[in-house]
Amino acid sequence: MCGIVGAIAQRNVVPILLEGLQRLEYRGYDSAGLVVVHDEELDRVRSTGRVADLTKKTASTQGLIGIAHTRWATHGVPSERNAHPHVSKNQIAVVHNGIIENYEILRTRLTSEGYEFASDTDTEVIGHLIHSYYKNGGTLLAATQAALAELVGAYAIGVIANDNRDQLVCARRGSPLLLGVGDGEHFIASDVSALLAQTRKVVYLEEGDVVELGRHGYKIFDVNGRHVERIVQLSELSNDSVELGLYQHYMQKEIHEQPQALADTLESVCNSQSLVPGIFGAQAANTFADIDSILILACGTSHHAGLVARYWLEEIAGIRCNVEIASEYRYRDSVANPKSLVVVISQSGETADTQAALNHAKSLGHTHTLAICNVPESALIRLCKLRMLTRAGPEIGVASTKAFTTQLAALFLLTLVLAKQRGRLSLQDEQRHLHDLRHLPSAVQKVLELEPHIAKLAEKFASKHNALFLGRGLHFPIAAEGALKLKEVSYIHAEAYPAGELKHGPLALVDKDMPVISVAPNDALLEKLKSNLQEVRARGGELYVFADANTHIKEAEGIHIMHMPEHAGYLSPILHTIPLQLLAYYVALQKGTDVDKPRNLAKSVTVE
Ligand code: AGP
Repeated sequence: MCGIVGAIAQRNVVPILLEGLQRLEYRGYDSAGLVVVHDEELDRVRSTGRVADLTKKTASTQGLIGIAHTRWATHGVPSERNAHPHVSKNQIAVVHNGIIENYEILRTRLTSEGYEFASDTDTEVIGHLIHSYYKNGGTLLAATQAALAELVGAYAIGVIANDNRDQLVCARRGSPLLLGVGDGEHFIASDVSALLAQTRKVVYLEEGDVVELGRHGYKIFDVNGRHVERIVQLSELSNDSVELGLYQHYMQKEIHEQPQALADTLESVCNSQSLVPGIFGAQAANTFADIDSILILACGTSHHAGLVARYWLEEIAGIRCNVEIASEYRYRDSVANPKSLVVVISQSGETADTQAALNHAKSLGHTHTLAICNVPESALIRLCKLRMLTRAGPEIGVASTKAFTTQLAALFLLTLVLAKQRGRLSLQDEQRHLHDLRHLPSAVQKVLELEPHIAKLAEKFASKHNALFLGRGLHFPIAAEGALKLKEVSYIHAEAYPAGELKHGPLALVDKDMPVISVAPNDALLEKLKSNLQEVRARGGELYVFADANTHIKEAEGIHIMHMPEHAGYLSPILHTIPLQLLAYYVALQKGTDVDKPRNLAKSVTVE
């Protein structure tokens, strides 16, 4: 999704803006641009290439105040004329994340007032609207506030004016934005990672905040225009955590970070002797005592985590669980159960559909809410009463990897805590699960050792156009996640099916050109799965099986086996995820795609 960086300083801000944009590249973008004030003129440079191209084009650009943007097209094709910043009458420049829903009405009105539109974007109306107030006198802040009052939709914006090199104005509603506090300089960004090279002191803005930044201070005004103070926090992110280091791609780095990410997420639990509801917040015990079911809302990979959790929650905790795709749930007139705990799962905590689904659930009467999320201070964390932070660290690759396995770990903890509270977990079982959780990071580390074998296996996929993933029970969502990873980074069309569903249709697709990848844990459904694999083999399908020890599935012509080091019981979905992530990664390498920034995709999907 789009990214914003802005700076007001006593030094040239162009390198600050470019470095910030570079660090936001992972969010996905198709064009980039920046504008600075120089000699009372707005000096704007835009490019449809990478930030590196913008760097070349701005070699001689200078200014002490500026705003910059990476754009992920929503309204209007990716092109230089649609790239931000947008400028009104050479006086006002704006960068914007989000979508302005009433832009057509505003565009018609502003056109009749003499404003000319140079792009197809919704953003351009913001610049002209601010200008329409600013030209009558008054401050940039007042003009921006007046314009914002007319906007319907979501935004994070940065605004500067050609005749004011001492003030930068920004605002947020529905899209994330934060301030960076420096010494004699201040910054804005849509993501803290953009600012780490400048400062770790940050202020997370609240919904509806509008801010006037100078070099030596800033003033925040809330949604009602009241002057308010917000806490300055020290970001825990280190500069290193967003560096690539020795790895070729962030996806590879993040796959390898999973043992540590899991250990960090499970730290408080694994260091104690028993499980307590408090890990989900102070009110968790009371809330958990009051609920009779779970409703999980999420998108994409996070939705797959929810699907795995449903098996755990119903089987171990004996609590009814429904899992819904957030973008569907938000528009469905469902029957609310106020005794249900609404669990939203999200890496970014900013996914627009998940936020809207949560708000929809609340509007239907749901009051018990829990966020499982990887980003502190994100919108979902603030919108929920209970929360658990996964501690995966920044996930830069668009394809979600370590966020997924840490979400699973958090959901397993939720299952155990609920099982205990509902009297379904003996002391002995609790200790056994704690032991398994402590062992999990090293079990994942062992699976990672399969990497060279999987890299070899991936060579066979480079010429394929389709792939079928099979799994059963708890591992069907893992097959679905494997298919999502493969299509996302290698652009091979991949589908996942519960293996028992094969003969109800998809078996028609199987022939020698269709690789069939199967997740084969040593569990109660193994024998059923083996029969399904026979059905594939009998139709000439080429099988790639990720099999636990003692499954007795043998390598043969057309059957390639990858042996998993151990069977992890209920935690097996976490282990079985790893080889599928590696497979997708190495197939993408074979195909030469842009692994970390797959075409058409964005990291956090903050628009509908
Ligand atoms: C995963 O690889 C995807 N890029 C995508 O499906 C993602 O999981 C989805 O957009 C949800 O994002 P979130 O977890 O940040 O809410």
